[in-house]
Amino acid sequence: MNPYDIVRPLLFRLDAERAHHLTFALLDQPLLRPLVQWAAGEPVNDPVDFLGMRLRNRVGLAAGLDKNGEHLQALSALGFGFIEIGTVTPKPQPGNARPRIFRIPRRNALINRLGFNNHGLDALVHNVQQSGFDGVLGINIGKNGSTPNERAIDDYRECLIRVHGIASYVTVNVSSPNTKDLRRLQGGDELSGLLAGLSETRAMLADRDGKRVPMVLKIAPDLDDEQIALIADLLPAQGIDAVIATNTTVSRDSVAGEENAGQTGGLSGAPVFDMSNRVIRALRERLPVGYPIIGVGGILSAADACAKIEAGASVVQMYTGIIYRGPSLISDCARALAHQAATGQAPSR
Ligand SMILES: Cc1cc2nc3c(=O)[nH]c(=O)nc-3n(C[C@H](O)[C@H](O)[C@H](O)COP(=O)(O)O)c2cc1C
Repeated sequence: MNPYDIVRPLLFRLDAERAHHLTFALLDQPLLRPLVQWAAGEPVNDPVDFLGMRLRNRVGLAAGLDKNGEHLQALSALGFGFIEIGTVTPKPQPGNARPRIFRIPRRNALINRLGFNNHGLDALVHNVQQSGFDGVLGINIGKNGSTPNERAIDDYRECLIRVHGIASYVTVNVSSPNTKDLRRLQGGDELSGLLAGLSETRAMLADRDGKRVPMVLKIAPDLDDEQIALIADLLPAQGIDAVIATNTTVSRDSVAGEENAGQTGGLSGAPVFDMSNRVIRALRERLPVGYPIIGVGGILSAADACAKIEAGASVVQMYTGIIYRGPSLISDCARALAHQAATGQAPSR
């Protein structure tokens, strides 16, 4: 019996954002940690070298669950191989009005239009420094809603400069659907200008800090083949180290008619699985052999995680699946991926 089967119906009676805060209020209690670790199952030790880092296993936390890096100790008890925090913007911002996270339980999905609600760079840097966290930490950076796209580079650069010293890798997020026009930064000219500028800043920071921090681009599942090909060509050319595929989708095709399907925002969970895999496959076909891809979108089982690797991902991340399946999903997936890497065998979906 999965202990989360008892907890989930109680949490699902609450508004989704309230349930999120309550869950972290409990997870952050050191006294409850043994209980949480029991529910999460034995952490999987499957060390893997990735981007010059040593991951504990192949399963990471996707960005957005811990926007401010406030819960690193609690999260590290859940058995992730790596954790990505953010999206952080230079200045704090409240995000959109509530309610802004909606469940579609029949489809194991969420729609969110949070809009980069976060406490800003200063708070995130402070939280990370105070946390004592010593695992692999990705920091996902974005731009403030009030910054026009023509000046987006200033926001990303400011974030990169501030987090360079504390991040294991930095993710450039140009794929949230909830910041007006952000996704236009995925287009050829805008993207190549942005990545070239950030690569230049990163080179300067590498000299300053005596270490080169990998820089990763996170893209949307709503790109067409031509856009994906263009991005795949730009990534190595601009010195970007890896790609995260994908963020949430604005499409509602696969949830039409469901309650909440009409809410504005990004759709995540099971309905984005195939869309993300399509992007992963297209990237894998076009990118140089061995170029790292972090596969994310709709993982709800160990078999789903293995299917991401089969589609071409090197490692995976998850968010919505944990809300629906509970923390044991992390170790279940990590175990299956370790087994798949060793034997080539994966559970069938
Ligand atoms: C409530 C919520 C908030 C999110 N916030 C962010 C964010 O701030 N930055 C980001 O890059 N992705 C964010 N995401 C996207 C996830 O990181 C992930 O790419 C997406 O949800 C697909 O994975 P999943 O189906 O496992 O959730 C968010 C997702 C959800 C559900």
